[in-house]
Amino acid sequence: MSYVEVKDVYKRYTMGDNVIVANNGVSFSIEEGEFAVILGPSGAGKSTVLNILGGMDSCDEGQVIIDGSDIAKYSNKELTTFRRLDVGFVFQFYNLVPNLTAKENVELASQVSNKALDVDEVLELVNLSHRKQNFPAQLSGGEQQRVAIARALAKNPKLLLCDEPTGALDFETGKQVLKILEDTCRNYKTTVIVITHNSEIAKMADRVIRVNDAKVRSIEINDNPISVDDIEW
Ligand SMILES: Nc1ncnc2c1ncn2[C@@H]1O[C@H](COP(=O)(O)OP(=O)(O)OP(=O)(O)O)[C@@H](O)[C@H]1O
Ligand SMILES: [Mg+2]
Repeated sequence: MSYVEVKDVYKRYTMGDNVIVANNGVSFSIEEGEFAVILGPSGAGKSTVLNILGGMDSCDEGQVIIDGSDIAKYSNKELTTFRRLDVGFVFQFYNLVPNLTAKENVELASQVSNKALDVDEVLELVNLSHRKQNFPAQLSGGEQQRVAIARALAKNPKLLLCDEPTGALDFETGKQVLKILEDTCRNYKTTVIVITHNSEIAKMADRVIRVNDAKVRSIEINDNPISVDDIEW
């Protein structure tokens, strides 16, 4: 059994008389420790399936098996525990708490975990030791995203979900962020799933899942992923 198994997932949103099908029978699997990329155009259903994987949204039908457990069957209480302990999130627009310092933002996450990493060490890992007393508004976009990654990593999750983590960043800054995600995956065997519009970023993935119009269109296994250091876009 794979570490992540999404099987025939359906998700519909009803807006008045309109039904929007965001995931129309989505299936894929990801092995433990893989770097996987979900690629596809706007509106394809990428965030929907990632939010379902992270227990932030529920599917209408299907199975979402993570580490052997079907989280689609979890109670709200079990989902809360899963979100707290087992999964880290990184979003496009960082979602930091504005009135907490960088360090306090990371501490917030480590406090809800029972296997948290040392906050100062995690901030060192993302090269932000010198900025930890700054508030988000005093940090650049790339620095804020590194705080957000530190926050996700502080929980020491086995699964790291990233929704367009470089979407708001320039090329060089985006590369720094992807490098941290790549190192986390390769050094800690964390399973990392990254959503992107950028097919160049897909070259660093072990597995590329292409989605379009609410369905998975292809899955490619890449036996020789390229380090982000060697990618240009
Ligand atoms: N909460 C919601 N209520 C209603 N419709 C929604 C909701 N969330 C997503 N949708 C719709 O579901 C479809 C898939 O959305 P989703 O956010 O998963 O796309 P995406 O692939 O992440 O797109 P993008 O690249 O623009 O972020 C879209 O048509 C979107 O409008
Ligand atoms: Mg999205």
